Amino acid sequence: MSDYLATWEAAAPGWERERDAVWAATHVIGERMVDTLDPRPGQAILELAAGPGDTGFTAARRIRPGGRLLSTDLSPRMVEAARRRAAELGIDNADFSTIDAQAMDLPDASVDGVLCRFGYMLMPEPATALAETRRVLRAGGKLVFSVWAEAEANPWASVIGRTMVELDVVPPPQPGEPGIFALAQPERIRELARNAGFAEPEIERVEMTWAYGSFAEWWRFTLELAGALAAVIGQLTLEEQERVRATAERNATAFGPEYVVPGVCLNVATS
Ligand SMILES: C[S@@+](CC[C@H](N)C(=O)[O-])C[C@H]1O[C@@H](n2cnc3c(N)ncnc32)[C@H](O)[C@@H]1O
Repeated sequence: MSDYLATWEAAAPGWERERDAVWAATHVIGERMVDTLDPRPGQAILELAAGPGDTGFTAARRIRPGGRLLSTDLSPRMVEAARRRAAELGIDNADFSTIDAQAMDLPDASVDGVLCRFGYMLMPEPATALAETRRVLRAGGKLVFSVWAEAEANPWASVIGRTMVELDVVPPPQPGEPGIFALAQPERIRELARNAGFAEPEIERVEMTWAYGSFAEWWRFTLELAGALAAVIGQLTLEEQERVRATAERNATAFGPEYVVPGVCLNVATS
């Protein structure tokens, strides 16, 4: 198993445990994506990098009767989490599959719409993933995806990430490297979309907030959910972990005592 896959397999139980809290904070983004996709009864919709699957399940309700959702993720444990989530929500028109968005085992022109929330920027080859997405979409089919905007607009993620760079626990992100802010520049998104054969994308900024309630909860959430960062923190000694936590808490005081922390996504639509 590659380190990359192992990171997401390790993060899957946390994503499953926290799925309600994640959706509570981010449903505004997922629902806006589905409104923009505007799925219709009878359509075939593909979700890539679905994690626990909630964005796709919002679309699945809108393609009845006759439509089917294919909910997919690179990580088999994430796919199983999504399958359990669908059963809990009574979603009966979804299929599930382990699929790497960069090399999809799907026929050309086989789906009417594609959703991908918080996925492409984490992939080592987003250009390949977007070209694959264009290949499996029917002519005229729409892609709607969401990536995080610039670090400054997303302290919920950047405060702890920057603290780790400041303490030399991780190197500063390099241009072109996968990561939470790797597709934060609209120009980069436009270039990738064009090169993959998509029309000029529409890009919309969508705001959200994480209401952590305390710094302890913010830290716990990061350890549960932040795939790559959580993996690095998990490898530190307890003493080093405490140094990072305490420095991050100092860097986050502006958000206390309630720790309602803002974030901004770029929702992108193209066809
Ligand atoms: C930040 S989570 C987002 C999960 C979900 N889309 C959401 O919005 O809650 C990123 C997801 O991307 C998946 N992923 C990472 N690389 C992938 C790839 N190459 N192909 C498919 N999924 C991938 C991970 O397994 C993980 O479930």
